[in-house]
Amino acid sequence: MWTAIDRTSGTPLFRQIYEAFRQRILHGELQGGDQLPSTRDLASSLQVSRTVIVEAYEQLLAEGYIEGRRGSGTFVAEGTLLPLIEPSVPAARSVPHDSQPLIRDGLVNPDLVDFRHGIPALDLFPKKLWGDLAKRICTEASPEAFGYGRPEGRHELRGVLARYLRRSRGVVCEPEQLLVTTGATQAISLVAKLLLNGKSDVLVEDPITSDIHTMFSLPGAKLHPIPVDDSGMITDLLPSDISPKFVYVTPSHQFPIGGLLPIQRRVQLIQYAARTGSYIVEDDYDSEFRYEGAPVSSLQGLDPERVVYIGTFSKILSPALRMGYIVLPASLIERARGLKWLTDLHTPSLEQLILAEFIEEGYLDRHIAKMKKLYRKRRDFLIRQLRHSFGDAVRILGHSTGIHLIAEFAGISFTPELLSVIEENGVRVYPVAVHAFRRDVQRHRIIIGYGNLSESRIEEGIRRLSASLKKE
Ligand SMILES: Cc1ncc(COP(=O)(O)O)c(C=O)c1O
Repeated sequence: MWTAIDRTSGTPLFRQIYEAFRQRILHGELQGGDQLPSTRDLASSLQVSRTVIVEAYEQLLAEGYIEGRRGSGTFVAEGTLLPLIEPSVPAARSVPHDSQPLIRDGLVNPDLVDFRHGIPALDLFPKKLWGDLAKRICTEASPEAFGYGRPEGRHELRGVLARYLRRSRGVVCEPEQLLVTTGATQAISLVAKLLLNGKSDVLVEDPITSDIHTMFSLPGAKLHPIPVDDSGMITDLLPSDISPKFVYVTPSHQFPIGGLLPIQRRVQLIQYAARTGSYIVEDDYDSEFRYEGAPVSSLQGLDPERVVYIGTFSKILSPALRMGYIVLPASLIERARGLKWLTDLHTPSLEQLILAEFIEEGYLDRHIAKMKKLYRKRRDFLIRQLRHSFGDAVRILGHSTGIHLIAEFAGISFTPELLSVIEENGVRVYPVAVHAFRRDVQRHRIIIGYGNLSESRIEEGIRRLSASLKKE
């Protein structure tokens, strides 16, 4: 049954084996209920170590492609067959609309332990390396690089980015489909302007970031919240009586709850979008940092004509770069370029060239590997501190990926009054409820970001949080 594995390609062996199984399962060569060979047998027939096979199986298990049955082996899960879909492209109208600038709070009292989510370790930005590359690019770039550029971005960056995305996230795209944006925020805002008008319906996860909620509401679109659970959007609840312009999802790491959307729900979502003629907008904002296995493959790779894929360098490098991108289905590229031009002409060229070099020379991969190790340590430390202070009174969710987790305290409502008391004790935490449509369901939960906090600050912050909650 097996195709040969390639030991000379740069792709890790476990990834090749994972990918080969994934493709066979998606396309029905392996079907629900089929048994997989034992890790020992497969390792021996492929002449690889058993660890490689175990790693591939664990990844397939985490994404829902296979399931283990105690004592009897590993089997293909049900609901994993990707439907054959006509490549009909949804109709869309461009509705330019001025949006409000998004203002984010950058001022923080230095003694406050701020568990703000979405902030990477700012002191570990590779300053020297970036500075050296910036100097080189600035002195060596051709005069043309200092003029007006093209709205889609520098071809150097789009070329390396397309290769990086294919290799690391399974995104299927040509450089021509890529549009470099000023952060994912601009990408999301462009998609909203491109696809929505006052009559549009949009399906979003509940909860979803409050900024995104605002961006989709600005053109007057009607938002339909679909609840999430620990595995992301509950696709059984997709409404059959509307045809949304798009469904917005964060399938690799639901924001903020943290679920990983299993393959069965991905298939359901793609079937739904095909049936209703909708796009899917996939926001992949921080899934490079996955601690239990490798990053999961993108939804885009399953249906490139229907999925608009959005990514950012804010979490893997720095939010200050304001560097993001969209991968667009062919049908949307031209109008997206036009809209980007009318928004800000293009994203700064020199920064794009520096970033292209940073990726091409392998620095990005090294930086991600180093940061992943650090964040895993900080995450483990944070979990230990939460357990030490609260024992079983806290439930921890969404900690397998990213740089934040969710702490749920049954019986405690994080009201504005309680959050002020907590802040008076020198620690700031973020309620999930502000991002939710159904706020009541989320009132016991807070978001705790840990990317930019040392272990000693985490310890102090949880100690202060514990002292505040004990007073309640
Ligand atoms: C879910 C999600 N998407 C997108 C973004 C935007 O990131 P940026 O504009 O910095 O690239 C954020 C920011 O935290 C986010 O949480």
